[in-house]
Amino acid sequence: MAMVCLSDFEAYAKKYLPKIAWDFFAAGADECSTRDENILAYKRIRFRPRMLRDVSMMDIRTKLLGTEISFPVGIAPTGFHQLAWPDGEKSTARAAEAMNTCYIASTYSTCTLEEISTAAPGGLRWFQLYIHRNRAVSQQLVQRAEALGFQGLVLTADLPYTGKRRDDVRNGFRLPPHMKLKNLEGAFEVCKMSLLDPSVTWNDIYWLRSLTHLPIIIKGILTKEDAELAVRHGVQGIIVSNHGGRQLDGGPATIDALVEVAEAVQGRVEVYLDGGIRKGSDVLKALALGAKCVFIGRPALWGLAYKGEEGLQEVLRILQDEFRLSMALAG
Ligand code: FNR
Repeated sequence: MAMVCLSDFEAYAKKYLPKIAWDFFAAGADECSTRDENILAYKRIRFRPRMLRDVSMMDIRTKLLGTEISFPVGIAPTGFHQLAWPDGEKSTARAAEAMNTCYIASTYSTCTLEEISTAAPGGLRWFQLYIHRNRAVSQQLVQRAEALGFQGLVLTADLPYTGKRRDDVRNGFRLPPHMKLKNLEGAFEVCKMSLLDPSVTWNDIYWLRSLTHLPIIIKGILTKEDAELAVRHGVQGIIVSNHGGRQLDGGPATIDALVEVAEAVQGRVEVYLDGGIRKGSDVLKALALGAKCVFIGRPALWGLAYKGEEGLQEVLRILQDEFRLSMALAG
């Protein structure tokens, strides 16, 4: 089967993954209207292409907080990669390193942070944090990530509680017994309730700042008000994100929210986006509307499901080629 575009990987993953894993990856909250809107919104945006601008040479590299990557697409944090491929996050890290882009490893990885950094020691890695009720667990994770050479700390702000994903409820989704949230082993004994701390506020940015020298990037911002607060609390980056439509159903598409966030931020910190990126032209639209870089969530999982590290590299390469072509054709 020739893999031509990201939808081909989606079709493959849907066909070959166990239903419970496919449903977990695909899930949105409630009626999935925000999940679907993330994609539909790109189709409403049109280019104003310019002609005769010598596009024989193009430079698609960019920098994330000073570190160069080969093109403006990184890998968003998603949990449980072993559901897609036996080597899990180790394969993800290797693919990102091979393509010279950024991989944001999730708190809910099925490999340890140590395994991830050993798998791809030269790659640009950020660590995504969910703050736990047991703050010592979070503190230890942040400091472990910093010691292991992760170069950024991504605080996910949109998950005080997990959104209601109907198919996961119907399927009784849980991690198969042979897979573990390896970075939290031990933490479950300490804390038997829901592990996430729903009492987190902006002040906790100062707490995080006291734990680490890493730049802090806040993920899940959708409004100019929160963008302003993020800047005022001293974060270095903002990811405009609605968690792939898995949290509050009824919120805006991220590409629509990006415009007000970028306008409010006025270049004071770097602004990125995730959600609904499926084509190179989507990447170009996000950059044109103010994002420095975008991140892919589900497409990375489809690439892993197809052929592990190689499959994810193929997904990234296709996006890279499509992005370059869109840039050229848009002048
Ligand atoms: C996620 N996302 C996510 N975000 C996060 O900060 N920590 C996490 O552990 C996870 N886990 C996770 C699992 C799965 C299966 C999905 C689909 C998503 C959200 C993710 O980082 C990102 O915001 C979206 O996936 C982006 O949307 P697309 O690219 O999937 O449309």
